[in-house]
Amino acid sequence: MRALSTTLLLLSIASPVVAQKFGAAENLAPYIPTPQFIVERMLQAGHVKPGDVVYDLGSGDGRIVITAAQQFGARGVGVEIQPDLCRKAVERIKALGLEDRVSMVEGSALHMDLSPANVVTMFFLTSSNEKMKPNLEKYLKPGARVVSNQFPITGWRPVEVVHVKSGSMNHSIYVYEIGRTR
Ligand SMILES: C[S@@+](CC[C@H](N)C(=O)[O-])C[C@H]1O[C@@H](n2cnc3c(N)ncnc32)[C@H](O)[C@@H]1O
Repeated sequence: MRALSTTLLLLSIASPVVAQKFGAAENLAPYIPTPQFIVERMLQAGHVKPGDVVYDLGSGDGRIVITAAQQFGARGVGVEIQPDLCRKAVERIKALGLEDRVSMVEGSALHMDLSPANVVTMFFLTSSNEKMKPNLEKYLKPGARVVSNQFPITGWRPVEVVHVKSGSMNHSIYVYEIGRTR
């Protein structure tokens, strides 16, 4: 866990594209894709169901929002700051014929209106979760779930923490519910 945190921290400092366009403070994490089996565990932990609107903040290649639509019957919105990843996700969504249920927004999640979401997923550093917290508190309605891969949200009490062991890796999934975080 400590090794993963250090790697993420070092990589997040060194992202010239994001730093140029948005400023280094907007860079909440480098691109490290979540393994597919953890994607599915995250969506299960968030009790995602048909009719839900899932926002993945820092959505990379779009795998979480794509899985939310394909396997859980939800609608998905990916928010990604890196233009090349955003393009890749859009191409994948089109190739899978999911344009009516999954969309991508290129930009910083720190300033995004999150009000349509009733489930938010994210895989940022703990310090970045701290930066994200005001926006989550501003836009999400009571009952909305926030599912954070690997890094907790300091000061919020999770309703559940799911631990998944795979080989030498220990994954932790933190689940929060707006209105029940204290
Ligand atoms: C650890 S990766 C997670 C990718 C994907 N959610 C997954 O689980 O496979 C974090 C992602 O967040 C993106 N990111 C970093 N800062 C961001 C910000 N302020 N707004 C939106 N995306 C951001 C990075 O470009 C990267 O793709």
